Amino acid sequence: MKSIKFKNKKLFYLDQTKLPGQEVWRELTTIQSGQKAIKSLRVRGAPLLGVFAAYCICIHLDALSKRKFFFLKQLKKSFDFLKTARPTAVNLFWALDRLDKVVSKNESKTVKEIKEIIIKEAKLIHQEDISTCEKLADFGAALLKNDENILTHCNTGFLATSGQGTALGVIFKAKQQGKNPTVYIDETRPLLQGARLTAWELRKKKIKSFLITDNSAAFLMQKKMIDSIIVGADRIAASGDTANKIGTYNLAVLADYHNIPFYVAAPQSTFDLSLQKGEDIVIEKRDGAEVKKVLGGAFICPAETKALNFAFDLTPSGLITAIITDKGVVYPPYKKNIKKLIKW
Ligand code: MRU
Repeated sequence: MKSIKFKNKKLFYLDQTKLPGQEVWRELTTIQSGQKAIKSLRVRGAPLLGVFAAYCICIHLDALSKRKFFFLKQLKKSFDFLKTARPTAVNLFWALDRLDKVVSKNESKTVKEIKEIIIKEAKLIHQEDISTCEKLADFGAALLKNDENILTHCNTGFLATSGQGTALGVIFKAKQQGKNPTVYIDETRPLLQGARLTAWELRKKKIKSFLITDNSAAFLMQKKMIDSIIVGADRIAASGDTANKIGTYNLAVLADYHNIPFYVAAPQSTFDLSLQKGEDIVIEKRDGAEVKKVLGGAFICPAETKALNFAFDLTPSGLITAIITDKGVVYPPYKKNIKKLIKW
């Protein structure tokens, strides 16, 4: 199951705003529509944003000047343009910076050669993301016992990556290993990534699951219905503090109170070791209209109501039991152990 395809220099993506009702594949033909697709969450999920942004550059290459000086200048502008799409998921910046670096190393080559090098690097980022998900899933599944009841938030599966996912990838692997997991899915207001996307993915994978309202989590924990919580991440600072979908921090506090393991699953590309602590991470604030309406429908409040819509929150590393990565599982003390494992 895939969320994007790059074939014969053409980029196709599954429009996630149409799920679960319709599976609509769209071709991306301009960098402007690529930026819009990210902003509007047609394409979303931290690791997928990195792969998608790299391919957005690939489909834009022929629109750039043939003269090297201008080509390089316009290319830099294209990187900067895509970086304006969303601020929190570091994978977007990581992938574009990686292309930027490879270009800098090869500036003496011809425009044609540089274009080929960019496409090759984008494909490599894609392949690495797929294998990263596999490795991470192996490490994560080893932490789960048979018949584990897992709570998850937002969407972290094959829609959010170009492989099988991060937090959901761990659960898919546990299922493959015959561990029979049951998943409780937070609906994830306001854009319902849990209800629309995670519930859809879990059905496709035939995994036993229950959709719950976001505010059910505490009660389920109190009733001892949850054995562990696994979430993804959009950016992890050197301290282990983690930015993820709004509502993640609530779960971490609840898990601490109820003594339930709270795991974050993320690839190396989601770490930002240039930032020492969580407060340094830019948290995206989106249009309040997303809160005032459910999926663009009728107002659920007086139309004039002011709404606050932070898309992500910060979970302090002290509330995280372990961070599952493609390099292994990181335990506290995070500052020391992240540095040992993560090459950045
Ligand atoms: O706003 P979204 O849907 O892009 O938010 C996504 C999340 O918060 C995910 O948990 C995160 O990107 C990890 S995806 C493997």
